[in-house]
Amino acid sequence: MLRNGAAGGGPAAGGRAAARPVRVWCDGCYDMVHYGHSNQLRQARAMGDYLIVGVHTDEEIAKHKGPPVFTQEERYKMVQAIKWVDEIAPGAPYVTTLETLDKYNCDFCVHGDDITLTIDGKDTYEEVKAAGRYRECKRTQGVSTTDLVGRMLLMTKAHHSNICSTDIGHVDFLEKVHQLAEKPYIIAGLHFDQEVNRYKGKNYPIMNIHERTLSVLACRYVSEVVIGAPYAVTADLLDHFRVTLVCHGMTEVVPDKDGSDPYEEPKRRGIFQLVDSGSNLTTDLIVQRIIKNRLEFEARNQKKEAKELAVLEAMRRLEEEKH
Ligand code: CTP
Repeated sequence: MLRNGAAGGGPAAGGRAAARPVRVWCDGCYDMVHYGHSNQLRQARAMGDYLIVGVHTDEEIAKHKGPPVFTQEERYKMVQAIKWVDEIAPGAPYVTTLETLDKYNCDFCVHGDDITLTIDGKDTYEEVKAAGRYRECKRTQGVSTTDLVGRMLLMTKAHHSNICSTDIGHVDFLEKVHQLAEKPYIIAGLHFDQEVNRYKGKNYPIMNIHERTLSVLACRYVSEVVIGAPYAVTADLLDHFRVTLVCHGMTEVVPDKDGSDPYEEPKRRGIFQLVDSGSNLTTDLIVQRIIKNRLEFEARNQKKEAKELAVLEAMRRLEEEKH
């Protein structure tokens, strides 16, 4: 169990001050964590006072769904970085049982309004539903892991890209920036899509400005976002937000349209810092994982199909022998 320092435990609004805090359980794969996931966790947290999120292992996901793109360690980290999560439970079972809810002392579990099935076609929430310890929240339309995988596969020609555009790299970067100050207040400036496309090319950005805003706002290390921040960090911007430090990761700083350095002003003021996230996960690496997974998945399905055909053939032969 990994506990976050912030929030949790306190009574929810609505006059339950003396009552025991309501403990809420969520579980899932949380692969390629996106704002649909954080929106689910935000809704779930609002139903109680303390949120525990069970994240499945790679093995468990591979068994029921096919191999995940991100490893369990990466997925644990990304879920833990979501600001509405009080605690994560690594290696939670795929099927949600009363035993699990009791083990973590949770009152009920919350899942989006879609049905999740096991490999045998059983509803994974059957037991908790029957016991009345199941609540539903709205699934976020227009985003899913599969959809993001599709968007990323459009990038297969980006072999030379070394730009880290994945959530895990961002989480590591923001965490490092957060550690730089005693009382950090992090403002993330997000560039409009056209601007991102100018300096990253290809089909970047993978997520549009609204999606990126939601994703970044869900990160516990971020206090504020500026939607459509100017590419050059100007004196006006620094003064307006009373900025004391400007950080950039180890990715290349592409010059502005007129060839100037976008960090000229913060550098002049001596408040610019390069921060190494320590993450070397590039878009290209993730795309490679997706392709590898897909091949493995197809091979596994073919094997399964061959096995099923062999059984059918054996049955047919048995029938023939009987007659
Ligand atoms: N979820 C959601 N909105 C989405 C995607 C997921 O509310 N757009 C919710 C699911 O309903 C579930 C939780 O996030 O309660 C965890 O989902 P997960 O196990 O990761 O798998 P999926 O539901 O398959 O998510 P995805 O389609 O993105 O793979």
